[in-house]
Amino acid sequence: MKKKFINATIYKHDHASEILVEDGKFVAIGNNVGEADETIDLQGRLVLPPYVDSHLHLDYYFTGQDDKIKNESGTLFEAIDLWNDYKKGTTKEEMKERIRRAVHDVASYGTQFIRAQTDCTDPNLTGIKAALEVRDELKDNITIQVVAFPQNGMYSYNEEGKSGRDLVEEALQLGADCVGGIPHNEWSSEEGKESVKEIVRLAIKYNKLIDVHCDETDDVQSRFVEILNAEVMKQGYGKSTTASHTCSFGSVDDSYAFRMMGLFRKSGINFVACPTENLFLQGRQDTYPKRRGLTRVKEFVDHDINVAFGQDSIVDLWYPAGSGNLMNILDNGLHATQLMREQDFPRNFDLITYNGAKLMQIEDRYGLDEGKPANFIVLDAPNPFEAQRRRVECLASIRNGEYLFHKKSPAYETELDINRQTK
Ligand code: FE2
Repeated sequence: MKKKFINATIYKHDHASEILVEDGKFVAIGNNVGEADETIDLQGRLVLPPYVDSHLHLDYYFTGQDDKIKNESGTLFEAIDLWNDYKKGTTKEEMKERIRRAVHDVASYGTQFIRAQTDCTDPNLTGIKAALEVRDELKDNITIQVVAFPQNGMYSYNEEGKSGRDLVEEALQLGADCVGGIPHNEWSSEEGKESVKEIVRLAIKYNKLIDVHCDETDDVQSRFVEILNAEVMKQGYGKSTTASHTCSFGSVDDSYAFRMMGLFRKSGINFVACPTENLFLQGRQDTYPKRRGLTRVKEFVDHDINVAFGQDSIVDLWYPAGSGNLMNILDNGLHATQLMREQDFPRNFDLITYNGAKLMQIEDRYGLDEGKPANFIVLDAPNPFEAQRRRVECLASIRNGEYLFHKKSPAYETELDINRQTK
């Protein structure tokens, strides 16, 4: 059956307004695309490839509303300690249910691709097993990459005779897609450095992607991204590697930063920034001026270094809010990183679409191109600028040519009379 979407504003296809879909694939994107069995009039609305959440902890979803635990200081490090105790009482079925609810929430805003940071510092690997099972169970409707993420450290964690490093390897053997790490949370910088080298060794051994929580601190001495970049450059593994957060890179001096950006560009390494979470978590030891805690997103964009945004947390011990709506993340990110120049608005959606797909290395099956799976979303705006300015809703999410959901645009006209007298 052929389906035709007409009167569309198609992201980065300036002169096309129609999409023809057959057997779950884009058959044509252009004008006068031919006859179809069904025609859907989008009335000028914006079509984007689906949102990609490049960094999200599905296994922590809503743990922040459990009365048994409270992060009193609001810092990242207290959250890590609290989580270590809490997770011991969680079963695989409970974890699977939590992950399913998180995915459902996130998908309802137009996300179809998630890189799921999943804690593996647990001798039973409960979270990893749950995430892998949910990944496979939901794969037709959502694409999830599972990162074997040692939240409590590769070398700082050791329980029941298993180190964080051993558990990362076990998770990879079970089928995790990416090697994670957290060098700034190891007990010494020496162990942090060793963890980075081990991450790269494991990725090459098991042919996996790399995604490291890297320098998520304001401490300018935390420069593990330099080591990670050098290690992957030596191995020709930069494009398969992502440095998440790199908050301290927003605080280092310019001479160091600009030298490093030349090296990042050379290696092809990717970055993810999490605007809402790091605005909330960082700068906690600052009085005023208080740092924003974000990495140099605008400079990465300007230097052709791939960077994407992620939600990171939804109501967990690290961050008390969040919905999974990447429009909200984009809006916060654009303000915090000043990506509001004339040239930015037409391409800003890349930060929550194409750039994430690039670091996930799914470009062969992602995007608005003929021959690829017909996955796309429809926003309630006539162009990218209006969509960002008004932070509009995602009205429909289409996967392999079929609706995951579609919502009605408000059925009534807004009547606003600012001169109305109150009686
Ligand atoms: Fe994270």
